[in-house]
Amino acid sequence: MNVEMQRQLGVMASAQSRWAGVLVTGRMRARMYEVVKSDKLTPDVIKLEISAPHIAKKAKAGQFIMVTPTEHGERIPLTMADFSPEKGTITIAALEVGKTTRELGKMKAGDKLFSLVGPLGIPTHLHQYGTVVSIGGGIGLALMYPVVRAFRQGGNKTVNIIGARNEKLLIYEDEIKSVSDEFYVCTDDGSKGHKGFVSDILKDLIAKGRKIDLVYAVGPIIMMKVIANITRPHNIKTIVSLNPIMVDGTGMCGSCRVIINGKTKFGCVDGPEFDGHEVDFDNLTARNRRYLPEEQVALRRWQEAK
Ligand SMILES: Cc1cc2nc3c(=O)[nH]c(=O)nc-3n(C[C@H](O)[C@H](O)[C@H](O)COP(=O)(O)OP(=O)(O)OC[C@H]3O[C@@H](n4cnc5c(N)ncnc54)[C@H](O)[C@@H]3O)c2cc1C
Ligand code: FES
Repeated sequence: MNVEMQRQLGVMASAQSRWAGVLVTGRMRARMYEVVKSDKLTPDVIKLEISAPHIAKKAKAGQFIMVTPTEHGERIPLTMADFSPEKGTITIAALEVGKTTRELGKMKAGDKLFSLVGPLGIPTHLHQYGTVVSIGGGIGLALMYPVVRAFRQGGNKTVNIIGARNEKLLIYEDEIKSVSDEFYVCTDDGSKGHKGFVSDILKDLIAKGRKIDLVYAVGPIIMMKVIANITRPHNIKTIVSLNPIMVDGTGMCGSCRVIINGKTKFGCVDGPEFDGHEVDFDNLTARNRRYLPEEQVALRRWQEAK
């Protein structure tokens, strides 16, 4: 991703756009956002509570923000793992995979972020479905928490299945458990809970004839694809939260194009949640790899400059 391209798109957004219910103004861009609390959830996952009252006031489960950590940095999308209108804060959790998420990984309480834009995206559709089975893997667990909390607050029975490669990489376990009617843990190596994949538990519930009114999945693309393939023959409505590469996050650049039921949609304004049975997951996987060489160069340069 080219930072200059991102910057130009950001300026366009500031000048022109009242989009996704968010007024992006020059004044908002000039604000600095203080980190109130910083925690490492695992060696590679940072959780930051950030002062952003105007975003916290409007935030809803399933929405995301665009974050630019430093003045010369790149803007990236991150889902809100929590928000408190009372405290005026939002919480993000980022897996440190490249330059920008590693910059976030170094942030401490008192540090300031250059820019935040949001809340963006269509919130999770909340409805009294009945029994909702929610499934999360890896960093998807942070994103899953506010959604399952909202499902429960909306009167649904919540069956939550969480997974990670091993016990040490399980995040948001207590939080998700606290809003679960039924709770399952899976690890690839068997260090905690069921040894195997989250999809094993889902298959088991279906095989037992459990009534499932909605499946919600968030995590690695391959995990969401597998879940959608399991539920399709049973006609169980399945919502997935997609993570296409975003630049402006407000519907102008087209970077986040995803194919849904054969039609082009924009992940940032039409999503990020879509019907899992309609998503072209292979196209999404290929598109998310398209800047790999540039991402590796950006990370190497940043590491050399430190
Ligand atoms: C709606 C949405 C919500 C997300 N929420 C979270 C979250 O809560 N926590 C989290 O850790 N990650 C989240 N992601 C993914 C996160 O945006 C990327 O990991 C991040 O942009 C990587 O940036 P980088 O510079 O650290 O790594 P890079 O080295 O630049 O990229 C590493 C990989 O991240 C992906 N990526 C890179 N740039 C972007 C971009 N601008 N937009 C989206 N993906 C990108 C690509 O697949 C890439 O191969 C979300 C993505 C989307 C679209
Ligand atoms: S990120 Fe630019 S249109 Fe969605």
